[in-house]
Amino acid sequence: MKVSAAALLILTTAAAASSALAPLPPGPPSNPTTAEKVALGRALFFDPILSRDRTVSCASCHDPARAFTAPQAVSPGVQGRLGRRNAMTLVNVGDRRALTWAGASPNLEVQAMIPLQDHAELDMTPDLLRERLTADPVYAAQFRAAFGEAPTVQRLVQALAAFQRTLTSRGSPVDRYQAGDGAALSAAQVRGLDLFFDKAECFHCHTGRDFTDGLAHNNAMRVFNPDLGLADRTEQESDVGRFVTPTLRNVALTGPYLHDGSRATLRELLETYNDGGEPNPNADPLIHPLGLTDAELDDLEAFLHALTDESIARNPAFRPERP
Ligand code: HEC
Ligand code: HEC
Repeated sequence: MKVSAAALLILTTAAAASSALAPLPPGPPSNPTTAEKVALGRALFFDPILSRDRTVSCASCHDPARAFTAPQAVSPGVQGRLGRRNAMTLVNVGDRRALTWAGASPNLEVQAMIPLQDHAELDMTPDLLRERLTADPVYAAQFRAAFGEAPTVQRLVQALAAFQRTLTSRGSPVDRYQAGDGAALSAAQVRGLDLFFDKAECFHCHTGRDFTDGLAHNNAMRVFNPDLGLADRTEQESDVGRFVTPTLRNVALTGPYLHDGSRATLRELLETYNDGGEPNPNADPLIHPLGLTDAELDDLEAFLHALTDESIARNPAFRPERP
């Protein structure tokens, strides 16, 4: 039981309350959450009105049925254009401090400007966004209700951020186990939990309530596209191939994996970790051969499946109001 006790310390106990009943998160002082902002942000998140050719919405790449990710390695934006990275989960995204795979955005308000304007995502301009939303009487009224003024891009990103802050989940079997329900995990999953927090060394980077330290590391995975990761911003050779540790909540639903979607299955990824990663000059020293047996890999994989909150896909508050 030694290791499970350590795990208990690392995972702060969080009530496994249904997200549908969760109170509104406060939001930052510059954009306090209100029910009106959330309602507006929710409508906009699912609406292709935010894309140049009115075919793509935020939800096209962030599908609630997949914990707000997409099935493709790289999901298409307008006109089928492809970016270079895998769409990230938005579950508990309000708790992240460095957004995107390279930690490029400090908060959700700043982040939303990227897909709105990216040529390979929604391909809009601030003027076009304001014109479209102002011309739509329902949205014009909703902006007035939420902000007391006509649509602007600043208010648009505030509403999208307010909605995204409500996408919270602490309802996985692992949460129930932490809260004292010993039957929430199978024996294999409990063994996998112990491996995760001990022999397999995963917890060094995948730590805290959401299994991420929020920092960029090089986890020694061969990269299949020219994406420098953190070095995109810092231009430091030693930052090449460093990416922000992703949350592992709902990871069974969010494949394919890694920043480029280059790993189809969890097993593939676990086997690479077990081999000590792939040769890489910037590899983190924590990545080394783990010596896990096939049975232990099975247990570790079973534990990762226990991080799925099945209620997310069913939560009516996470779906469009008018489907
Ligand atoms: C064409 C697919 C696509 C569309 C459309 C899209 N996204 Fe994303 N999203 C991505 C990808 C890919 C990433 C990772 C970007 C990176 O690392 O550079 C991402 C990352 C994010 C993140 C960062 C999450 C984290 O944990 O760091 C947020 C937040 C986000 N998107 C919100 C939105 C919102 C809001 C919209 C609509 C305005 C939107 N996205 C539209 C593909 C998309
Ligand atoms: C040195 C820090 C570090 C350690 C140790 C580590 N990881 Fe990771 N992990 C990362 C980073 C960084 C990424 C993202 C890399 C990328 O996208 O190229 C990642 C990605 C993943 C992903 C893919 C998630 C997704 O959404 O695509 C899974 C699953 C995962 N790790 C599980 C594990 C397991 C299980 C262990 C223990 C065997 C482990 N990790 C050990 C840092 C680490």
